[in-house]
Amino acid sequence: MDLNVAVLGATGAVGMELLSLLEGGALPVAGLRCFASERSAGTSVPFRGGTVPVENAERADFAGIDVAFFSAGAERSRRYGPRAAAAGAVVIDNSSAFRMDPDVPLVVPEINAEALAGHRGIVANPNCTTIVALMAVAPLHREAGARSLRVASYQAASGAGARAMAELKEQTSAILAGRPAKAAVFPSPLAFNVIPHIGHFLPDGSTEEERKLRDESRKILSLPGLSVSAICVRVPVLRSHCVACWLGTERPLSAARAREVLAAAEGVKVVDDPGALAYPMPVLATGEGPVIVGRIRVDEADGAGVSFFVAGDQLLKGAALNAVQIAEALLARGLFPRPAGPEHGRGSSGGH
Ligand code: A2P
Repeated sequence: MDLNVAVLGATGAVGMELLSLLEGGALPVAGLRCFASERSAGTSVPFRGGTVPVENAERADFAGIDVAFFSAGAERSRRYGPRAAAAGAVVIDNSSAFRMDPDVPLVVPEINAEALAGHRGIVANPNCTTIVALMAVAPLHREAGARSLRVASYQAASGAGARAMAELKEQTSAILAGRPAKAAVFPSPLAFNVIPHIGHFLPDGSTEEERKLRDESRKILSLPGLSVSAICVRVPVLRSHCVACWLGTERPLSAARAREVLAAAEGVKVVDDPGALAYPMPVLATGEGPVIVGRIRVDEADGAGVSFFVAGDQLLKGAALNAVQIAEALLARGLFPRPAGPEHGRGSSGGH
């Protein structure tokens, strides 16, 4: 079945990655419509040798669209998502708006594609850092049972969008030229710095990003009681997130077995030869679909467990690629067109 596809947030960092995946033939696209803010309305984006006009999302009529990729922030998803779902589209939402809604599947296809079966018009794409970490954690969990997960993240500027990438470049040039660095997107200048602050602070002292990592990991792994703690840090890297993970396991796991399990896992590439200076780094992960895992070793600080380091292109597997894979999984399961039943945007489920 060929799909009528919409991309909301088409001019953004993730939107542009989505368009290039679609251009590369990721889905059978019958038609494409692009939406962004009023600022971009009237411009166009190149697609398959032609151009597609960018429409103002505010005036969007989603009728006839089979799948709508949303990547314009949670506020816009809350505003337009139920409307698109009510018009018959399956919304694949990259924002945090619906992720913890029990009626909305939160899916990494390699981990929990089966959750798609119950969708009601909206499917959530998880937080980028959560996806990168869980791509390595989930196979090890299947092997040895996850008991606890501690992570420290090293997150690239592009996780905060296209303006954030531009800001890091400007700050770097300013500092190298002896001028002061100005911060608008980030809470402080990021160039030549690291910032342990991603998202708002919550009353318990954690940040939204750290909370997302905990709550979303529990939902995706179907482990509501999993002990998860995170410290999320922005680093002056343009693209690809890294995550140091300490995974406590129910059963002992050797480093060799962990390496074997990860090497066999779909969407994971093991790069773990420290003697040859081979380990995961953002420069290796950028532009790659699979996440890269290395520095794998036994870590028994808290009972049985392993520690490892993951690098993943968060604009691809952490966002656009995962979203496209969700659409592919829906297609493979015959979940397009929409299954009959209650929908988001209508009746009791319309209050998001
Ligand atoms: P625009 O370029 O018109 O501002 P990023 O994550 O890279 O910052 O991208 C955010 C995306 O969300 C962009 O495509 C941006 O469009 C879009 N966007 C921002 N505000 C709105 C809005 N009010 N309505 C629709 N799209 C929006």
